[in-house]
Amino acid sequence: MLETRVCVIGAGPSGIAALKNLLDLNIAVQCYDLNDQVGGNWIFSEKTSHSSVFETTHIISSKLLSQYEDYTWDDHYKNTGTIVSNYPSHQELKDYFQAYAAHFGLLPQIQFKTKVLSCELVNENWKVEIEQSGVFQTEIFTHLVVCNGHHWNPRYPSYSGMEEYSGKLIHSHDYKNAAPFKGKSILVIGGGNSACDVAVETSRVARRVDISWRRGYRILPKMFFGIPSDMVMSRFVKFKLPLWIRAKLADMTVRIITGPNKNYGLPEPEISVVGSHPTINDELLYRINHGKIKPRLDIKSFEKDKVVFKDNTTEQYDYVIACTGYIITHPFFEKSLIDFSEGKVPLYLKMLHGDIKNLYFIGLFQPLGCIWPGSELQSKIMAREIAGLWKRPANIKEKIKDEIQNPHYKQIDTPRHSITVDFHKFRQELLKHLPRNFRNKSGINERSNAN
Ligand SMILES: Cc1cc2nc3c(=O)[nH]c(=O)nc-3n(C[C@H](O)[C@H](O)[C@H](O)COP(=O)(O)OP(=O)(O)OC[C@H]3O[C@@H](n4cnc5c(N)ncnc54)[C@H](O)[C@@H]3O)c2cc1C
Ligand SMILES: NC(=O)c1ccc[n+]([C@@H]2O[C@H](COP(=O)([O-])OP(=O)(O)OC[C@H]3O[C@@H](n4cnc5c(N)ncnc54)[C@H](OP(=O)(O)O)[C@@H]3O)[C@@H](O)[C@H]2O)c1
Repeated sequence: MLETRVCVIGAGPSGIAALKNLLDLNIAVQCYDLNDQVGGNWIFSEKTSHSSVFETTHIISSKLLSQYEDYTWDDHYKNTGTIVSNYPSHQELKDYFQAYAAHFGLLPQIQFKTKVLSCELVNENWKVEIEQSGVFQTEIFTHLVVCNGHHWNPRYPSYSGMEEYSGKLIHSHDYKNAAPFKGKSILVIGGGNSACDVAVETSRVARRVDISWRRGYRILPKMFFGIPSDMVMSRFVKFKLPLWIRAKLADMTVRIITGPNKNYGLPEPEISVVGSHPTINDELLYRINHGKIKPRLDIKSFEKDKVVFKDNTTEQYDYVIACTGYIITHPFFEKSLIDFSEGKVPLYLKMLHGDIKNLYFIGLFQPLGCIWPGSELQSKIMAREIAGLWKRPANIKEKIKDEIQNPHYKQIDTPRHSITVDFHKFRQELLKHLPRNFRNKSGINERSNAN
């Protein structure tokens, strides 16, 4: 029998948490990443790459709710002297993830510039095919931990007449900064965080920016009463308020602060703030108020050089930027084995497969809040199972069914809502599987001394 040897795909925020927690338990592990450094989505690149962040991206989850428990922003300050604002930039986040990797001594276990091409189960082990600089290689592992992210494969919209459309259409994945749009007319499609960021940023330089929503959304400000809005929401958690009351309070607070959407010419939402993934933006409403962004209805069709809206108005644009989200994609699996690109994602704790015991997904959830604190706790459960310190429930398939039937929130049934969790509730669910002293802040030096 093969000695335990784990493969981690990806060295983004989830992959480094997986790696760190495996090393904490002395488990042999090899991580592969496409890129040449740690950071995943947070490695801004002017060229199209894995990353979908823009030159001006700052997170929407506030810093105190966007930290690893093993390596907090305070720990980061102690190690590097860095202080970040409430909403750090992509560069500050990349630095944080790289400092985490350095502090815990992860780099020797990561093979960069290496693409995982395929993962196949052979005699219950994983046969992993990799490619580095044109050299192909196959490795065998006992366990596979998938941390390849879910915000990199663009989901394009489709409308009648699109094939004949002669204008330029790009996806927000390829939007890097506003400079190419100077003096141009632009239509932004979507009501998510990318759409609002792209509309705001391009509206600083473009001649005209319109934004088309297919439904109404409540736009959350980054601060409520001078405090990051997610921190205010987490105070409701401290009072042990049920989710539906928290959702109502969130709705009410936002409505009091921003007023009705119709005052901005935007459609009124038919759903609560948590009925779709929250859109958090301080500048969209401001720039609409200043005439720099114009709201439009949903698109009906495309004609040769025009966009036709549902109110039958038409418009010509230099660029249409589709900010229409991403497809969950695992290109290294045969689709018959794993395909979560459409519909529900049947995984226990959003990480464990019902049939395949040596396969783990880390970070494959969409919290109303930050991803990496959840990835960290998932990683601890994964590592503990591989080390024989934790066992998955025998009735895992029933548990998966239950999770699917009872999601934390009832949200609109659109592709981006297949993996939603409530940040706080999910944390509590994960903690149930961990010992009280689950945190381990020991850096590489302490770990080497202990071993
Ligand atoms: C513009 C934008 C802003 C965001 N803002 C927030 C925010 O405010 N808060 C928040 O929590 N989340 C935010 N997100 C979500 C973001 O996806 C997560 O923060 C985080 O990056 C998830 O970490 P991850 O490691 O799971 O995935 P990723 O960061 O995507 O990392 C995946 C890694 O896997 C590697 N990889 C992929 N495929 C392969 C392969 N075949 N072989 C080898 N390596 C591979 C990639 O190179 C990458 O390094 C944002 C996303 C976008 C697009
Ligand atoms: N500053 C930041 O931190 C920041 C910036 C950008 C993105 N992000 C994060 O990155 C992730 C992806 O965000 P995203 O905004 O790129 O994608 P997203 O959250 O999936 O939003 C996509 C938007 O496009 C709409 N849409 C999808 N298909 C459409 C179609 N065919 N026609 C019209 N509209 C369509 C969706 O509508 P429905 O409501 O109907 O689904 C939604 O409004 C999220 O986690 C987000 O929070 C964060």
